[in-house]
Amino acid sequence: MVSAQISPQEFLLLQKFIKNYCGIHFPESKTYLLHSRLSKLLKEQGIKSYLSLYSKLKEQGNNQELAEKVIDAVTIKETYWFRDKSPWLLLDEVLLPQYITELRQGKRTRVRIWSAACSTGQEPYSTVMCIDQHLRQHNIKDIGLTDFEILATDISPSVLRIAQKGSYDSITVGRGLNDFFRNNHFKQEGRFWTVEQRIKDRINFQQFNLGQSFILLGNFDLIMCRYVTIYFVDNFGREVLNKTAAALNPEGVLLLGNSEIFSDHRERFLLKNYKGGVYYLKRNSSS
Ligand SMILES: C[S@@+](CC[C@H](N)C(=O)[O-])C[C@H]1O[C@@H](n2cnc3c(N)ncnc32)[C@H](O)[C@@H]1O
Repeated sequence: MVSAQISPQEFLLLQKFIKNYCGIHFPESKTYLLHSRLSKLLKEQGIKSYLSLYSKLKEQGNNQELAEKVIDAVTIKETYWFRDKSPWLLLDEVLLPQYITELRQGKRTRVRIWSAACSTGQEPYSTVMCIDQHLRQHNIKDIGLTDFEILATDISPSVLRIAQKGSYDSITVGRGLNDFFRNNHFKQEGRFWTVEQRIKDRINFQQFNLGQSFILLGNFDLIMCRYVTIYFVDNFGREVLNKTAAALNPEGVLLLGNSEIFSDHRERFLLKNYKGGVYYLKRNSSS
């Protein structure tokens, strides 16, 4: 039997484990939430108490498989298509025209975009659909989708499996996606809608913990790190934003979620407004 309650001591141990593993902060006021998220896992794994869950997590250094299951259970995966208006207006009206001009002038050979906590894939797929739509609308033939490289990462293997499959039920597909995009970029099979292969092919999905070093990922023109830093403890969030600044090309852009405030940005970024939203423009060394 799983113990009905999580003791204060067990809570503190798991709170620390989660914070160290992925930066997520569970305040004590959310003890009930941790309990409700983990009790099913305990049952599935036949683990009798939260204390033995913690001991198992610490077995042989770290029990990676179990740790991933815990993180999967405690992370919030909420997402939907074209979440918030301003990032997509910025991409369509400001960034894509700039990237296209620079590609044409030979100032760049490709555009690299990173969706850094992509959940079930709506954010990177929205990005590729937005690019595709821009190219069609402006009748651009000399630049194609293959000039854009999209990396989409998340810590949680379960959401990445869904993202890679790119198949969504009719309720999920309806959240934020208009009929035009649904009818042009998805194939319907019964209750499910699958993203067209051409769009899928532009995205490289990978499991990645934002606590890791970003160095091996290379540099990006645009990083979307949206609706994830709000869950992080302060120093972890700050560290992620520092690493993000380092991973951006000169004049690269960082997009956060609407509710996410990055107050000590001035050294590395200029805060810009665009159509009701904000974005962070990487400062070049002289600005
Ligand atoms: C609320 S969703 C945001 C999805 C998407 N960016 C959006 O704005 O719609 C947050 C995602 O962050 C992921 N996440 C949480 N901690 C993470 C970490 N340390 N490294 C990478 N991803 C993490 C979760 O698994 C979840 O899928």
